[in-house]
Amino acid sequence: MRSGKTGGVTPATASPSKSKSQRLVSALLAWFATSARDLPWRRTRDPYAIWISEIMLQQTQVKTVIPYWNRWMTALPNVKSLAAAAPQTVLKLWEGLGYYTRARNLQRAAQLITTQHNGRFPETFDAILTLPGVGRYTAGAISSIAFNQPAPILDGNVIRVITRLFDIAANPKKKAVNEQLWTLARELVETAHNLPEQCADNLPRCSHLNQSLMELGALICTPQNPHCGECPVQLDCAAHRAGRAAELPNLRPRTKATARRVIAFVIEHNGRLLVRQRPTAAVNAHLWEFPNAEVGHNPAAITHADSRDSLAQFAREQLGLPLTNFAPLITMRHSITRYRITLEAHRARWTGKSNAAKNAGRWLTVEELHALAFTSAHRKILKHLQTTAVTC
Ligand code: ADE
Repeated sequence: MRSGKTGGVTPATASPSKSKSQRLVSALLAWFATSARDLPWRRTRDPYAIWISEIMLQQTQVKTVIPYWNRWMTALPNVKSLAAAAPQTVLKLWEGLGYYTRARNLQRAAQLITTQHNGRFPETFDAILTLPGVGRYTAGAISSIAFNQPAPILDGNVIRVITRLFDIAANPKKKAVNEQLWTLARELVETAHNLPEQCADNLPRCSHLNQSLMELGALICTPQNPHCGECPVQLDCAAHRAGRAAELPNLRPRTKATARRVIAFVIEHNGRLLVRQRPTAAVNAHLWEFPNAEVGHNPAAITHADSRDSLAQFAREQLGLPLTNFAPLITMRHSITRYRITLEAHRARWTGKSNAAKNAGRWLTVEELHALAFTSAHRKILKHLQTTAVTC
């Protein structure tokens, strides 16, 4: 790791020269005008549509978001329809995007806009910032993209672009460094706002400048092997000049992933399958899933050669379910935050009384299950069931 040297901008309060800012902004705006991707949310200035796109794009790639955004905008085209929608409709539209708090916050915010802003999307940065699920980045993105206000944005892509343009080698997660990056982002968008009159072009410059930073980070100024040869601001990039663009930003190595093992049961009884809804306070609250539990701190306790007895005991002790006739169904691996989860699904048959079955959860046919919003991993189990016989 290099020392705290920051190349072009050394002290935390330093700012780029006015002429460098103007050169950067002009080049970025010209590049954006010819090279930006034609994304569906770029065809509108509707703050509602832009808000939905920005929330979906948190933690999620553009190509994944496009079909979700299109479906959402067809089903819930405005604040009013979102505020009034059934929560399960909202979750179903979000199903597969993960981090479901985002969807619940969207609906809470729509209800707040209805009651506190007469249904009209707020137009100032400060008012937008008060909405549930909206932080400094998202409020800046909405104010600049929908209302062309000179509000800065700083997300992972923009951090990468700015640390390279100004050769900032200190860790951007440190508070002072992060504030320095916000200051630089603000200077760039304010420069766009204040460009001399002769550049008047009727384009929403603050919107385009901010989006050009995101776009450059996504297409050219990529984490590994940046395409500096195609970069519109290559000549003004301090890290490129110093030959270390690819080394920035200086992020500490991620914390090591922790392995976890979960066992799920697809339980059949009279041609129906048992599912449960996740509780309100849990991660993925209100989504549906097959009964499951984590294998405790000793993952070796149940091995791949799990005996039917140990599975029966696990289901009884961890889930209170009387099961028999186990058959392995599918094993999948997925990651959530810093956890690497192995989920093993087994088929099983209910051996308890029918009365007890009623209290265990909901028993539904496969067709009925398809209408519910499932967690991503459990939707994969459901899909897998379609390719195999359902009976145990
Ligand atoms: N990432 C975050 N916001 C984005 C946007 N508006 N367009 C493309 N990628 C983005």
